[in-house]
Amino acid sequence: MQIYTILAQLALVSVVAAAQPTVYLIRHGEKPSSGNGLSAAGMQRAQCLRSVFGKSSSYNIGNIMAQTYKADGSRKRPYDTVTPLAADLGLPVDTSCDRDNASCVENVVKGYKGSGNILICWEHDALSDIVDELGAKKDNVPSYPSDRFDIIWTDPYSYDAGVTSQTSEKCPGLDS
Ligand SMILES: *[C@@H]1O[C@H](CO)[C@@H](O)[C@H](O)[C@H]1NC(C)=O
Repeated sequence: MQIYTILAQLALVSVVAAAQPTVYLIRHGEKPSSGNGLSAAGMQRAQCLRSVFGKSSSYNIGNIMAQTYKADGSRKRPYDTVTPLAADLGLPVDTSCDRDNASCVENVVKGYKGSGNILICWEHDALSDIVDELGAKKDNVPSYPSDRFDIIWTDPYSYDAGVTSQTSEKCPGLDS
């Protein structure tokens, strides 16, 4: 009997360990000079993200979130940016949280029971609010530069350390 108890405990430990996802935060791709949607460069970035975060990468993405978009096509850039990647990974894009509702994002992240890590694609100003809401100390919450589209923020479980590293997507032809 005892061996089964031990095995059950080991199984429980691995389930708990799996539910400690790292959160990766990115901005949507480049935008046109006016109107909704992505520019040609933005679409190129969306394609590039298939290799950056795809199955053969080390990111192990198990859940993808993008801000809720509107019927008129506004706020849809984050969704458009991650859709090709999501299709590759066979994942839905969770658009249940409004751009300005960081506490909704927190609920999804902290309630996540699946395997793998979480990729969040959002409007750049609101990324700081999400990191803040997840529990970061104020001085570990960077601002996403308005002239950049390529930076990946890493916010590891349990999120109180905030953004611990920033790296470029290094998309060929877009990022130097
Ligand atoms: C934010 O999202 C939560 C769901 O997590 C919802 O209950 C709440 O009403 C939302 N707040 C606003 C202001 O929309």
